[in-house]
Amino acid sequence: MSDTGSILKIDNLNVHYGDFQALYDVSMEIKKGRVTSIIGSNGSGKTTLLNTVMGINKPTSGSITLNDKDISGMRTSKIVADGVTMSPEGSSIFEDMTIKENLLMGAYLPHARKRKTELVEKAFSLFPDLREKSGQLASLLSGGQRQMLSIAKAIVTDPQVIICDEISLGLAPVIIKDIYKKIKEINAAGMTVLLVEQEVKRSLKHSDYSYIMVKGRVVMEGVSGELPEEEVSSAYFGINKYA
Ligand SMILES: Nc1ncnc2c1ncn2[C@@H]1O[C@H](COP(=O)(O)OP(=O)(O)OP(=O)(O)O)[C@@H](O)[C@H]1O
Ligand SMILES: [Mg+2]
Repeated sequence: MSDTGSILKIDNLNVHYGDFQALYDVSMEIKKGRVTSIIGSNGSGKTTLLNTVMGINKPTSGSITLNDKDISGMRTSKIVADGVTMSPEGSSIFEDMTIKENLLMGAYLPHARKRKTELVEKAFSLFPDLREKSGQLASLLSGGQRQMLSIAKAIVTDPQVIICDEISLGLAPVIIKDIYKKIKEINAAGMTVLLVEQEVKRSLKHSDYSYIMVKGRVVMEGVSGELPEEEVSSAYFGINKYA
């Protein structure tokens, strides 16, 4: 793995919900062209962090920079236009629309709208199964297909960085395998990927670099292939020194 520059930098981020502090001095460096994963149990602050990157939550302090431009606190639509998109937890599809209509909705922002035919084509070439079903209502899709559509919707915004929040949750192992195969293809197509996972082994297997979060803090980080799985699991479960 050669060294590349960072595309997204999170510096000393603190986020509160009212009086409750959900993130404490979180810093991360997402390298361009890599798959980076964030591992953490329920409530460790993963979604809060991603929502803050996307401008959905506002940070109390700290900064988020995309290609050296400060995007912290910016409007979500502006962040998407600048090249960061998220497939949110639980997917984000419009049930009453067809697959094609869902994708066209994904390309609604001006920068993508002009190239919508090309971008929808790009999404369909990455997800040929969706092309076959393009005229079907999204409500008829299986859990795995929904997750694929949610990722495809992110792709039609033409992102540099694609963020996926728990794309494998509740899916059968064989489907999860397919989804991670797609993530690899998306990454090979030039997109930087930031993933959130609850499963330690899977997360380390499918990423280049990992951050482990416990109770709103980053407690461990490293090259995924070099992180000892047992130690990551101990951190994850809040055992001994990480509790
Ligand atoms: N809108 C909110 N208002 C108040 N507290 C919140 C809100 N959203 C999240 N929290 C709290 O912030 C903490 C972090 O939650 P968050 O959803 O970011 O965790 P997570 O790591 O994504 O968890 P999960 O794996 O369950 O998705 C939790 O204690 C949660 O209860
Ligand atoms: Mg979450």
